[in-house]
Amino acid sequence: MRRCRLARFALGCLFFLASHCSRGADGNVEVSMSDVVEAEVGKTAIIRCGFSIPVNSTYAYVNWFYMDSHVRKKIIYMVPGMESPEELELKGRVRMGEDFALTVSKVTPQDAKVYVCQVGAGSAGVGENRTELRVSKAPETPEVKVADSAASLSVMNEIAVCVSRNGYPTPAITWYKDENLLESDGEEINIRFTITKESSGLFTVSSSLSAQVTKEDRKAIFHCQVNYSLMGANKTSRSNAFNISVNYPSVNISFVISEPNREIKEGDKVTLLCEGDGNPPPEYTFFRVKNGTEEKLQSTDTGKLVLENVMRKDSGLYQCQAFDLQSMDELKADVKLSVNYLEIPTITKDPPRHLKEGDNLLLTCGSSSSKPLEFQWKKEGKVIVRERVLNITDVTHEASGSYSCIVSVPEIPGLSHRKQVSVNVHSKPRLFPVEEVVFVHEGKLLSLTCAAVSNPRPSILWTTSVNSTLMPNSTIITTDVSNEQRNSTFSVFVTKEILESEIRCSARNNQGEASHRFKMRPRIEEQTTAGSPTSTKQGSESQGVIIVPIVICILAIALLGAVLYFLHKKGKLPCGRSGKQEITKPEAHKDEIVVEVKSDKLPEEAGLLQGADSEKRSAGDQGEKYIDLRN
Ligand SMILES: *[C@@H]1O[C@H](CO)[C@@H](O)[C@H](O)[C@H]1NC(C)=O
Ligand SMILES: *[C@@H]1O[C@H](CO)[C@@H](O)[C@H](O)[C@H]1NC(C)=O
Ligand SMILES: *[C@@H]1O[C@H](CO)[C@@H](O)[C@H](O)[C@H]1NC(C)=O
Repeated sequence: MRRCRLARFALGCLFFLASHCSRGADGNVEVSMSDVVEAEVGKTAIIRCGFSIPVNSTYAYVNWFYMDSHVRKKIIYMVPGMESPEELELKGRVRMGEDFALTVSKVTPQDAKVYVCQVGAGSAGVGENRTELRVSKAPETPEVKVADSAASLSVMNEIAVCVSRNGYPTPAITWYKDENLLESDGEEINIRFTITKESSGLFTVSSSLSAQVTKEDRKAIFHCQVNYSLMGANKTSRSNAFNISVNYPSVNISFVISEPNREIKEGDKVTLLCEGDGNPPPEYTFFRVKNGTEEKLQSTDTGKLVLENVMRKDSGLYQCQAFDLQSMDELKADVKLSVNYLEIPTITKDPPRHLKEGDNLLLTCGSSSSKPLEFQWKKEGKVIVRERVLNITDVTHEASGSYSCIVSVPEIPGLSHRKQVSVNVHSKPRLFPVEEVVFVHEGKLLSLTCAAVSNPRPSILWTTSVNSTLMPNSTIITTDVSNEQRNSTFSVFVTKEILESEIRCSARNNQGEASHRFKMRPRIEEQTTAGSPTSTKQGSESQGVIIVPIVICILAIALLGAVLYFLHKKGKLPCGRSGKQEITKPEAHKDEIVVEVKSDKLPEEAGLLQGADSEKRSAGDQGEKYIDLRN
């Protein structure tokens, strides 16, 4: 190694002439040291000292000095054979290692000096080099104290003071508004700073910002920042962001209805809001302007006038007066309040009292409002007309019921009222449905039913022509179906007398009477029709028989039978033994439409009126028939 360096040194001599060579002639001791060593306060700094001496010589001593304004002060030294180096300065904080490096522990700002390492090697001469020890420490995060009072326009205002403590070397503070750097310009911005050296040797920097402000500055976000270097690197640390309050007089005020945000109707809670554009807000007073005079109103919240449960009489002009203490100006603003209303409707009914069937009914709904109205008549939840007047000509008892008039103001959602009226149409009894001729079997039970409808509900009376009174062994069951309908069923075992008589049911109320006579006929024996086998399996008593549909059925079956017979004759129909036959096109068309006539239940069973005894005339009882409609 040393030989190598010597060789390089020799080469250096050859090539670089004077300075190098002449120094080489003075002494052959080369000391190599860094220019700068960085150290943090409180940590340990190591300053190395490397040297080279001629091959066959040895060092005589190594001295460490520091420079104290051009004067050297020896800190520590070492000579061969010495047990440990001797400390002269910085006692207890310095050491010298076997490699002659100087170790300074618990570095303080005062340790920031130039250190010299001197190596003596007898005849080889003396060599030395130097290192600057740079000491640094990060200052504390800057703290901002914002001025207590609000800033005013067009004067210099103390805005805030920013302090960052205990840094080394001296840190610097900068100010920012909305992230833009603020710089002292002596006119609108003035920044002054002070630096304090603490007893520890560390520095505390304090910077105060004064500025002229504008209204806009109330929205600005400020902060300060400390800039410092640590171990040779530049660093920054920000304060908390802050904003300032700016005072300026109100120039305009606004006075508006803030709630509700729609047309106002009676019963609403209304909030009027008055706002000046200055800071702090002016003092507000509220008035109601009526016939040119102002009536002062009480408000609990500044700038807010609340009117609970407004009525139409509260409509009118309201005024807000704002007095600004900065400008000593009074500002005024008006707002017009209109409270919409809707009267509960009234209904006039013509004729006013009970109605008879055939009468004309006129229902008229009346109301008034601050806005156009819309009328609606409803009965049982269904809208009948969307008009003010409901006219029903030629009323029937179905017109009875409860009618409501709904009046609303389309412009104002939620403003609507309803009124109800009940209509009662008196009607004569009506009987339905009724048959005249009843086929009966002697000895069987006969049941007859009368349904009667009228208003008021009728009473039903059964009589016979035989005796004009009711016969023995008969029963009457009466049920009230509705307020207007009553059903009554009369049952008796058929006797000869009955066969020769008429049975009468009559319904009566205060509007009149209706009656119906049932004529008895002995039942003709079952008739067999060609191609239609009859069934006798249903033998229940007193089944109703209605002649006309049965005759039609019989005819239809006869016709069908004839058709079936005809087809059979022509050999077009495979005739099974089952009672069920199909007239269809080939398989492929089977899924096409067919009408199925199922005839095990007669339609007339559902009728209100059922007469006759014996078995049901079950015309289609032979099973099911399919009539292909395509043919
Ligand atoms: C000090 O040491 C540096 C680094 O080894 C070297 O470059 C410089 O020449 C030396 N200075 C002297 C005066 O020897
Ligand atoms: C200004 O500061 C106040 C209180 O510190 C805070 O409530 C407000 O939100 C801030 N305004 C803005 C715009 O940051
Ligand atoms: C009429 O009825 C009464 C008893 O209900 C009976 O005594 C009288 O014989 C009956 N008259 C006739 C003509 O059937």
